[in-house]
Amino acid sequence: MTVEERRNLVADAANLSEEHIAALSEHGELDETAADRMIENVIGTMSLPVGVATNFVVDGKHYLIPFCLEESSVVAAASNMAKRCLAHGGFTTRNDAPVMIGQIQLLDIQDLNAAEEAILGQKDALMAFCNDVPSRMIALGGGCKDIEVRRLPTELGTMLVVHLLVDCRDAMGANAVNTMAERVAPRLEALSSGRAHLRILSNLAGHRLARVRAVFSPEEMASDGTRDDGLAVIQGILEAHAFAVEDPFRATTHNKGIMNAISSVALACGQDWRAIEAGCHAWTTMEDGRYTSMSSWSEDENGNLVGSMELPMAVGIVGGASKVHPAAKANLAVLGVETAQELAGIMLCAGLAQNLGALRALSTKGIQAGHMKLHAKNMAVSAGAEGEEVDLLAARLQAYEGHRTQSLVETWLDEMRRA
Ligand code: MEV
Repeated sequence: MTVEERRNLVADAANLSEEHIAALSEHGELDETAADRMIENVIGTMSLPVGVATNFVVDGKHYLIPFCLEESSVVAAASNMAKRCLAHGGFTTRNDAPVMIGQIQLLDIQDLNAAEEAILGQKDALMAFCNDVPSRMIALGGGCKDIEVRRLPTELGTMLVVHLLVDCRDAMGANAVNTMAERVAPRLEALSSGRAHLRILSNLAGHRLARVRAVFSPEEMASDGTRDDGLAVIQGILEAHAFAVEDPFRATTHNKGIMNAISSVALACGQDWRAIEAGCHAWTTMEDGRYTSMSSWSEDENGNLVGSMELPMAVGIVGGASKVHPAAKANLAVLGVETAQELAGIMLCAGLAQNLGALRALSTKGIQAGHMKLHAKNMAVSAGAEGEEVDLLAARLQAYEGHRTQSLVETWLDEMRRA
């Protein structure tokens, strides 16, 4: 079926209105033919706003960072916080080589020692086999760089798990790694006298870490520019951070704030944001098995607030949606990154700034004041407001001191229209 035929079929089945059908037929930069090539059963496309976060200086270079998301305040908070570390030179990043892990699960092995020895004894030959394919990534210096063997005790007995460590250069690398894992699996079966079961990359990209650090002075953290106020704000942020470190309920929300930025930049730049999210959340548990804060906040000897973060960041600027989606290509051009590692570092800066924005707001005047600015407009639109009704209702809602609810806005709109 064509996209239009599918849409009409779904419209009949779901009894869609003309308005719904028109919304699904509208398309922006991604036309239906391109969309139809990306996934299955396409019936339309969907737009989200792209906003640009400003004030980001990363490793001495100034960036405009595109965020794609539906939530108000995120872009403003990130831009605002990024400005506050400029006096100390902005953000500093340190990013690993782009090495992904491909996993091959080996089962039914009689002699684990012999199997492990045989595989490790043939490491060079196995790597050469993995890399013996016509590939641009390999031609550019990427490819399988190491092989590790892990023993995994499970409820079904001990398994061997082979890790291919694959340098993916500027690609995210999922396809290359999966192809390599499938290709080498029969050789691993022969060497281990076992059976290869799953052959797939790991989204816990623990060899592909990005790191960020930034320093914020008390004066920059203050609401009124004074050191005393700034020190109090910093104390509040440290208390909020301590809460997230110890409590998974809080850590989940704290980290959601970080992912507000990381996932939005990922989406804007055509990255697999689900892979990134899975890896980032899992990474927090690697130290002692406990889910905890992705970020670290501390105070240095001069009373400055120091933020840092280390996360797996599997991103690419060649292949995938980053090369197919016209808006992703444009957003990468806005960012002006030259390597996947550079993109990884910037995404961490955005995440750290975002986290600081949330912690600062939460530990001072609360999150709702800032959130309400644009959210008030969304509430007005949700209530059915049109044209200038939107601004009038939003202004009234922002000024309102009582409990702001959707039904209150609906009542106001009703009153407004009757008047
Ligand atoms: C909302 O999208 C994100 C926050 O909840 C993050 C946080 O609580 O740290 C504000």
